[in-house]
Amino acid sequence: MKAAILFESLTGHTRTAGELIAANLQQVGWGITGVSPVRRPEMASIQDADMVIIGTWVHGLFVVGQGPFGLAAIAGLPALRGKLAATYCTFALNPAKTLDKLDRAVSQLGAEVIGGLALHRSKLNAHSEEFAARLTANVPARV
Ligand SMILES: Cc1cc2nc3c(=O)[nH]c(=O)nc-3n(C[C@H](O)[C@H](O)[C@H](O)COP(=O)(O)O)c2cc1C
Repeated sequence: MKAAILFESLTGHTRTAGELIAANLQQVGWGITGVSPVRRPEMASIQDADMVIIGTWVHGLFVVGQGPFGLAAIAGLPALRGKLAATYCTFALNPAKTLDKLDRAVSQLGAEVIGGLALHRSKLNAHSEEFAARLTANVPARV
């Protein structure tokens, strides 16, 4: 399985999570075609990937109004028809329905979204490992 990772990040947690997810997936034999920002995506990495993993961070008032930051930029990504997708978000307190909203935006690009995970920003190592493990359990690896 070949995956491209795209992240939206302000202070670096979501970027770090993307890099950790890439490392975890590589350990189980997945190819990573690229890890790049949503706003400057490596087009070739998307084209070459079977799966696109899109991550952003939770923006809101911590107890209300949470949602994925950068939805407009995500909606502006190239069409992902024929590709699988998975999503993640990083958060500090409570992600609420952020992943559902992110999944809807990614589905609208034409991808088949197979799931996602919210990663706590203070547990990026453990949660990135969990994300990669769930992904590999749900997608048979084609090495
Ligand atoms: C303006 C702003 C609003 C935020 N709102 C929330 C929120 O409503 N709920 C939450 O759990 N975290 C919230 N956070 C925390 C971020 O989601 C968290 O720190 C995230 O890991 C940042 O990702 P980044 O380092 O990739 O930018 C907020 C952060 C900022 C800067």
